[in-house]
Amino acid sequence: MTKKIGMFAALVAITAAAFVGGVNAETVIAGGMSEGDGDPKAGKSKSELCQGCHGAEGISIDPATYPDLAGQFAGYIFKQVQDYQSGNRQDDTMSAMASMVTSRQDLKDISAYFASRKQMKGKPSNSKVAKSGARLYKKGNKKLGEYGACGRCHGEDGKGQSKTNALFPVIGGQQKAYLIKQLKDFKSGKRTNDPAGMMAMVAKGLSDKEIEAVSDYVAGL
Ligand code: HEC
Ligand code: HEC
Repeated sequence: MTKKIGMFAALVAITAAAFVGGVNAETVIAGGMSEGDGDPKAGKSKSELCQGCHGAEGISIDPATYPDLAGQFAGYIFKQVQDYQSGNRQDDTMSAMASMVTSRQDLKDISAYFASRKQMKGKPSNSKVAKSGARLYKKGNKKLGEYGACGRCHGEDGKGQSKTNALFPVIGGQQKAYLIKQLKDFKSGKRTNDPAGMMAMVAKGLSDKEIEAVSDYVAGL
C-alpha cells in the first residue's frame, strides 16, 4: 500500500506540473484569475440556457438533480464543459447542453459568469454520519491512509486550494445528491475525466457508507 501511495503521489506531482507546463495551461490560467479571461457580464445573458437548471445565480433549481456552479473556478467549469463536448465526460442531459455552446469565447464568458456568483455554501450538519464524514475528509480512512484525506486536495474548507489552481474544484457546499453521484461514478468507472485518475483511486477506496458520510459533511461546508 505504501508503495502504491508513493507512486500515486508522484503521479499527482507530475500531473500538476504538466498542467502548469502547458497541457492544460489555459484551463489553469482561466481559473487562476478566478473569473478567467472571460467576461462575466457578457456571460450573464449567454448563460440563460444553463440558468434553466443551474439557477440564475448558479444555485441549482433542483438539488436532487443539478449541481451548483456558483463560485466554482472558471477554469474548472470550462474544463468540464469541454470534457462533455469531447465525450471525455458523459451525461445524457449535460452532454446535449454542452454541445450547444459552439463558441470558445462564449464558454469562457459563461464560466466567468458562474464563477463570479456568490459561492455555494451549505448548512453544517451535526449528524453522527457527518461527523464520521469529517474524520474521513480530514484524515482519510483505513484503506487509503492519509491519501484519502479530501482536504489535502480540495482544501480544508472544501473551497479548493487557491484562486490560481483550477485543478482541484470547490466541493464544499455542493449539493449532496450530486456529490454522492460523482463519487459513485468515479468508483464505478462511469466518470473517468479526472487528471491522473486521482479521484478514481480515492473513490475506489471508499465504501458506499463512507461516500454517504463524506458527502453529508462536504455538502454542509
Ligand atoms: C436540462 C438541465 C441542464 C441544463 C440546461 C444545463 N445543465 Fe449543466 N448539468 C446538468 C446535469 C444533470 C449535470 C450533472 C451531470 C453529471 O452527473 O455528470 C450538469 C453538470 C454540469 C457541470 C459539471 C459541474 C461540476 O461541478 O463538475 C457543468 C460545468 C455544467 N453542468 C455547466 C452547464 C452549462 C455551462 C450549461 C449551459 C450551456 C448547462 N450546464 C446547462 C443539467 C443541465
Ligand atoms: C489527490 C487529490 C485528491 C483527493 C485526495 C481527493 N480529490 Fe476529489 N478531485 C480531485 C481532482 C483533481 C478532481 C477534478 C476532476 C476533474 O477534473 O474532472 C476532483 C473532483 C472531485 C469531485 C467532483 C467535483 C465536481 O464538481 O464535479 C468530487 C465530488 C470530489 N472530488 C470529492 C472528493 C472527496 C469526497 C474526497 C475525499 C474522500 C476527494 N475528492 C479526495 C482530486 C482529489
